[in-house]
Amino acid sequence: MALEHARVIELPKISDSRGNLTFVEGGRHIPFEIKRIYYLYDVPGGGARGGHAHKKLEQLVIAASGSFEIVLDDGRNKKKYFLNRSYYGLYIPQMVWREMENFSSGTVCLVLASDIYDEDDYFRNYQMFLNSCTITR
Ligand code: TYD
Repeated sequence: MALEHARVIELPKISDSRGNLTFVEGGRHIPFEIKRIYYLYDVPGGGARGGHAHKKLEQLVIAASGSFEIVLDDGRNKKKYFLNRSYYGLYIPQMVWREMENFSSGTVCLVLASDIYDEDDYFRNYQMFLNSCTITR
């Protein structure tokens, strides 16, 4: 079941008097090679994003600055995560619906993805996502 593979990954953090540094190596800290990076910013305080699932794409979602909640749903179970540290990433496997909520103002949400953008990889309709979960189960 997809949700069992979702998890918060603690990333390396190098601290010294100049501040902190965190890095991510594809295939080492996360279970996929990174083919794309995108980031969400200027999201209004209290705002929401997401509302979709991916057929094949894997992602690591990081609150690089600020905070937000993510509700993951594999069609059977739901789990809510709160991200507010730059050195934690939420690994989201394929076939998981996500709702991102309650962005604090000024948040930067960094997303590492296993593939380039492909609209055909999206489920944007929840009922179609549920139907596909049932078929593949
Ligand atoms: P969307 O995936 O719906 O954003 P969110 O993850 O916040 O729900 O993407 C919003 C729009 O941006 C949509 O028209 C597709 C486009 N987009 C790209 O062109 N390339 C990308 O890498 C991403 C993530 C989105």
